Amino acid sequence: MINKTERYTLLAKQIESLLADEKDTIAAMANVAALIHDTFRFWWTGFYRVIEGELLLGPFQGPVACMHIGYGKGVCGTAWKERRSVVVPDVEQFPGHIACSSESRSEIVVPVIQHDRVVAVLDIDSRELGTFDEIDKEWLEKIVLSLPAFNLPESEIFLAAGCFWGAEKYLKLIEGVTFTEVGFANGNTDNPTYKEVYTDQTGYAETVHLRYNPTIVSLRFLLEMYFKAIDPTSRNKQGEDEGTRYRTGIYYNDPADLPIVDDVVAEEAKKYGLQLQVEVEPLRNFYPADEYHQDYLDKNPSGYCHLPIALFELARKAKDPHKSK
Ligand code: SME
Repeated sequence: MINKTERYTLLAKQIESLLADEKDTIAAMANVAALIHDTFRFWWTGFYRVIEGELLLGPFQGPVACMHIGYGKGVCGTAWKERRSVVVPDVEQFPGHIACSSESRSEIVVPVIQHDRVVAVLDIDSRELGTFDEIDKEWLEKIVLSLPAFNLPESEIFLAAGCFWGAEKYLKLIEGVTFTEVGFANGNTDNPTYKEVYTDQTGYAETVHLRYNPTIVSLRFLLEMYFKAIDPTSRNKQGEDEGTRYRTGIYYNDPADLPIVDDVVAEEAKKYGLQLQVEVEPLRNFYPADEYHQDYLDKNPSGYCHLPIALFELARKAKDPHKSK
C-alpha cells in the first residue's frame, strides 16, 4: 500500500507531463481535477474561478455543486479573501461553511495565484473527517502552480498622490499601465469642477485612475512605485501643494485588492517607523477632470510638476520583480 506522499509524487509527475504543452487553463483544470479525483477517490474535486467579483464553478469531478460563491464566503471564499490554503478537518466546525452536499465531512481549499492575484481556487471534499493535512496542502499548492496562466482582464486602481499632473505623467510610464485619466475621487458633491475642488470644500482628492494589464504589472509593484513618488508621512501636503485635495490615497473597486494594498502599506510603514497618512478606502466616486488637465505635462512640458524629473526615468525603466508567470 503506497502512502500519501508517494501517491502525490506520482500524481505530480502525471500532471507535469499532461500539462507540458497545454495553454488552455480550463482544459488543464479539467484534467487536473480528474487526476486528483481518480488518484484519491475523493468525494468532490474541482475548481471555482474568480469571475466578476465572485467564485464561479469551473471544471470538477463529483456530485452537482453550488455555482456561485461570494468573496469571503464559505471555505472557498475564505481561501480567496485570505490568499491562503484552508484545511478544514470537520466542516461542521467551520463557521460559514457552504454545504453543497451534506455528505461532505472535511475539506481543503487551495488558492490558485497567478500574477499575484487569486484567479481561482481548488476545492476538495471528503466524506471522512480529517482527510487533509499539511502534506495535501504542500502538494496541492505545488500542483496548482503548474496550471497555465489565465488571460486576465484589465484591472484598475485609483491613486491620489498630490497634484495629479505629475502623478499621471509618472504612473503612466510604468510598463503594463494601459490607460490613465486624472480626476477627483471620494468627495461629497456631484460633478465637481476643478475650481470647486480647489476651494478644498468638496472632500475630493486629486486622483489618477489607472488601468493596467495584470499579466505585465502587478498591483503590488504599482503601489511600490506609487510610494516612491509620495511622502506618505505628510498629511494633506505633497511638495508645495497643500490641502485635503492633495492628500494621498489608494482607492480600490475590487475588494480582493485590499489585502495587497494593506500588505504594501504595512511594508512602507515599517520603513518609516510611523503611522502613514495614506488613506485606503473603497472607491466611492470618481469624476474625470476637464480635458485641459488630462496628460497635462505632455501638452505643457514645462508646466508645474511637484515630482523630481529623475522619477520619470525610474518609471520608464522599472521592471516588476513580482511578475512570476
Ligand atoms: N464547501 C465549499 C463550497 C463548495 S462545495 O464544497 C463543492 C465552501 O464552503 O466554500
